Amino acid sequence: MQTVLLNDFKRQWSEIGGDVLQAVERVGASGWYVLGEQVQRFEAELAAFWGLPAAVGVASGLDALEIALRTLNLRCGDRVLTTPLSAFATTMAIVRLGGVPVFCDTDANGLMDLELAASILSAEPGIRFLLPVHLYGQSLDLDRLAELRDRFGVTIVEDCAQSIGAAWNGRATGTVGRLAATSFYPTKNLGAMGDGGALLTSDPELASRARRLRDYGQSAKYRHDEIGWNSRLDELHAAILTAAVLPRLPAWTSRRQEVATAYSAGIHHPGVRLLRPAAGATSCEHLFPVSVAGREQFEAHLKNHGIATGRHYPILIPDQKAMAGVRFELASELPRARALAASEVSLPIHPQLTAEEIERVVAAVNAWPAAD
Ligand SMILES: Cc1ncc(COP(=O)(O)O)c(C=O)c1O
Repeated sequence: MQTVLLNDFKRQWSEIGGDVLQAVERVGASGWYVLGEQVQRFEAELAAFWGLPAAVGVASGLDALEIALRTLNLRCGDRVLTTPLSAFATTMAIVRLGGVPVFCDTDANGLMDLELAASILSAEPGIRFLLPVHLYGQSLDLDRLAELRDRFGVTIVEDCAQSIGAAWNGRATGTVGRLAATSFYPTKNLGAMGDGGALLTSDPELASRARRLRDYGQSAKYRHDEIGWNSRLDELHAAILTAAVLPRLPAWTSRRQEVATAYSAGIHHPGVRLLRPAAGATSCEHLFPVSVAGREQFEAHLKNHGIATGRHYPILIPDQKAMAGVRFELASELPRARALAASEVSLPIHPQLTAEEIERVVAAVNAWPAAD
């Protein structure tokens, strides 16, 4: 029995390999490998896809977040309201700049609780930054997010690493904050064959500052205006993303949505709660999270049926060992995030899943003995 994988990169390669090799050939023949035409073209196409005027390619999603916060002048000691349930990179970006993460609990589905965020911001006027995450590919309520921005004057960076193609009532994630950050880590919906990331913005000045910061703070060759990063998306990856991945993204997202629809229609189990997007949200279905009591047994049951699973995320960020010596604040108790860290399981969802594999996942979940 072939295992149903969380991501199937070999199948992906058989789909995109020819286009990737042609892209490699083009870059090799061009003789130009860093910050050239390919990056410019990819940035233009990504921005057009997203519906924002500017994209800036960088070396990873973490760097995109960090450069975004620096572009917006986050200073040492600045407090940033954020979520405890995300990839560690979300908080790491704040901490690496000397900022202080302030954690706000999530809602029952694992996304930042924006009602709670409003009461925290109202009680704590010293919090100047907000770093929310559109987790699992599900959009936060962008109307509420815009309200927080306008009411409290907080500077927002949206973590869109998992939400490319996601929207709230037709409005793309990443369009409320001053900057959005995304990732091209291979497992992402727009995945490269290595690391990469981008910032997106409607503000051309922010885009040019981010462009300087990613390249040693240079405003012109050998003219360094500020301390920056070496965080450049390379020509090879830009060419691969432009030629082989971005053109397939709409079809791949639709396929993910079909898989999610099939799971939602097929899975009926009193012990398995599907963490589905709120009404108003169009998910890009980056992950398909469920919450179960008895996670280990559930995972073992699926493994016995040849189905791989993931956990997003098993340890809350403030509980990570790396945070032991780091300054952070808990703006609230974290009961809902904590419950999900103990119970969340991600089922396989990717564009290359076959109809038979989808049926196998549904049948195996429904057959979990905890139903008895
Ligand atoms: C929500 C979120 N933020 C940030 C990142 C960081 O992206 P990268 O791995 O490209 O640094 C990731 C991916 O790992 C992520 O899922």
